[in-house]
Amino acid sequence: MAGDSLSAVICVCFLVALQVTSGANIGHFWHVTDFHYDHTYWSEQLSCNDDVPQPGVFGDYWCDSPWRLVTDAIEAMTHIRSDVDFLVWTGDTVAHIHDDHLSVNINMDIMQNLTTAITKAFPNKTVYATFGGYYTRLTASGLRIVALNTNLYYTSDRQTPGHPDPAGQFQWFRTTMERANSTGEKVIVIAHIPPGLHTPRGTLWFQTEFVQPFNSILTQFAHNIVGMHFGHDHHDGFKIFYDAQVTPWRYKLPGQVGVPHNPAIRLVTFDRDTGRHLDIQQYYLDLPASNKQDQAGAETTANFTLLFTTAAAEQEGTAKVCNKTCKARILCGFKHYTMADFDACVSQQCDDTCPNSGAIVGK
Ligand SMILES: *[C@@H]1O[C@H](CO)[C@@H](O)[C@H](O)[C@H]1NC(C)=O
Ligand SMILES: *[C@@H]1O[C@H](CO)[C@@H](O)[C@H](O)[C@H]1NC(C)=O
Ligand SMILES: *[C@@H]1O[C@H](CO)[C@@H](O)[C@H](O)[C@H]1NC(C)=O
Ligand SMILES: *[C@@H]1O[C@H](CO)[C@@H](O)[C@H](O)[C@H]1NC(C)=O
Ligand SMILES: *[C@@H]1O[C@H](CO)[C@@H](O)[C@H](O)[C@H]1NC(C)=O
Repeated sequence: MAGDSLSAVICVCFLVALQVTSGANIGHFWHVTDFHYDHTYWSEQLSCNDDVPQPGVFGDYWCDSPWRLVTDAIEAMTHIRSDVDFLVWTGDTVAHIHDDHLSVNINMDIMQNLTTAITKAFPNKTVYATFGGYYTRLTASGLRIVALNTNLYYTSDRQTPGHPDPAGQFQWFRTTMERANSTGEKVIVIAHIPPGLHTPRGTLWFQTEFVQPFNSILTQFAHNIVGMHFGHDHHDGFKIFYDAQVTPWRYKLPGQVGVPHNPAIRLVTFDRDTGRHLDIQQYYLDLPASNKQDQAGAETTANFTLLFTTAAAEQEGTAKVCNKTCKARILCGFKHYTMADFDACVSQQCDDTCPNSGAIVGK
């Protein structure tokens, strides 16, 4: 099954990652995503999912990011490591604000400001961004970046269902991978929407019809792909290898409250010769503590602290807050990419105490 071979590929990536390769030609890159800058945070608070009587300077769990959080996150990146090989930036720059309050001009303005902030902080560094469309580039050390527009496969895209190959991207992806394979290049795939589901909740990100064509390319060229980095999830799952986020955001739907997320940034260490991902270091901001400190009159800058290093540490962290149902759902999300496969797996993994996922389609 495509899903099973994909997860096998992923596991191999992480096993390799845990080997310390001495004498390797070590490089680094930052992965940032989902800044979700809310330019109305200090005025109408249009992104906020609940009342925020006392907005924190660095943000609030009910809202998207104030500008201060965005700039302090970028500043923290330069302090932690400025001599990176490149940056990967996987989208969702604009806040969760209703279209009525946004426009192409406002969105362009936001993206321009973020782009300026990042390029100023990292002068002369290449930023591989996913802004819609697909493209490929070689990094200075010869790694091939393949940037995809997986928003085309997103459950919220109403235009693409029924199209066998939206925007001809599958064809292009396959051809690009064939070329990379024939020249022996190693590839990093970057995109915004990750395949599969958000767990443990079970929100479907990819339309079921696009799962198989996508996964079949990945599995066919598994030996060429050294890493895949996605955004969107606002969650440290590593069912696939996504994601970092800089969004202190939390949602409220009828009958459901999303868990709050601390803002985070992610540094990847890799072998420049082979592209192997050797380590992932994630830094996070303790949002309540930072806000409190600033309110106490201490002119603070956001203090991003090391949360974990290597994927193995992350798995442990997840286990601490995860009950039996949650574990079953995370494990199933690791391997299964459609709601039907996921549900079947969850029922098999756990007894009657496990509630069924229901088909939740993401926002
Ligand atoms: C973008 O930056 C410009 C120049 O600093 C500023 O005038 C504008 O308000 C910013 N836009 C947003 C949406 O924050
Ligand atoms: C960036 O590149 C330009 C042109 O190559 C060079 O003049 C400048 O010193 C570089 N800046 C940094 C910070 O490396
Ligand atoms: C990759 O290239 C090798 C060597 O040229 C070839 O044998 C193999 O069939 C190619 N794999 C794919 C999936 O095209
Ligand atoms: C940053 O936060 C961590 C964890 O909360 C703390 O141990 C450390 O002392 C803080 N550093 C500074 C400079 O405030
Ligand atoms: C167990 O985890 C699931 C999924 O995260 C959650 O919905 C449920 O409320 C949790 N159950 C208990 C008893 O904590």
